[in-house]
Amino acid sequence: MSIEWTKDLNTGIDVIDEQHQRIVDYINQLNKAIIRQNDHLVGGVLIELADYCVSHFAFEESLMLKAGYPYLKPHKATHDMFVKRLKKFQDRYDQGEDVAAKLHDMLSTWLILHIKQTDMAYATEARESLLRIVQNKANGGWLSRAMSRFFE
Ligand SMILES: [Fe+2]
Repeated sequence: MSIEWTKDLNTGIDVIDEQHQRIVDYINQLNKAIIRQNDHLVGGVLIELADYCVSHFAFEESLMLKAGYPYLKPHKATHDMFVKRLKKFQDRYDQGEDVAAKLHDMLSTWLILHIKQTDMAYATEARESLLRIVQNKANGGWLSRAMSRFFE
């Protein structure tokens, strides 16, 4: 089943919401690959999604650090654990196992829950500082520097 972007997924920090939407797009691409039974596409999406998640997490962590968010450490721990889980799926896929459906289930449950709870926590608690950081254009702006550092 494909995931529809609903308002309760919005953190209110545009740049984060755009990245989360892209992750949801990847999960939906995976869903399509499963329906089409296109194993090659599954592999492709898996690589791109893992890569994008790592960049997104690094971006998010750097933003939380800059904002002085006190729960960065436990938040980062959940990211690291997720990346490890993803890596295990990657290994199983590489060994020829059909992981698509299980991977899709894990992704849709974990990521949606992570956005709604863990990400929403920093968006609520540190909203003011986060918005100040992403909207500040002085000295080239933290946002544009972070975007090129983590995504290019
Ligand atoms: Fe997060």
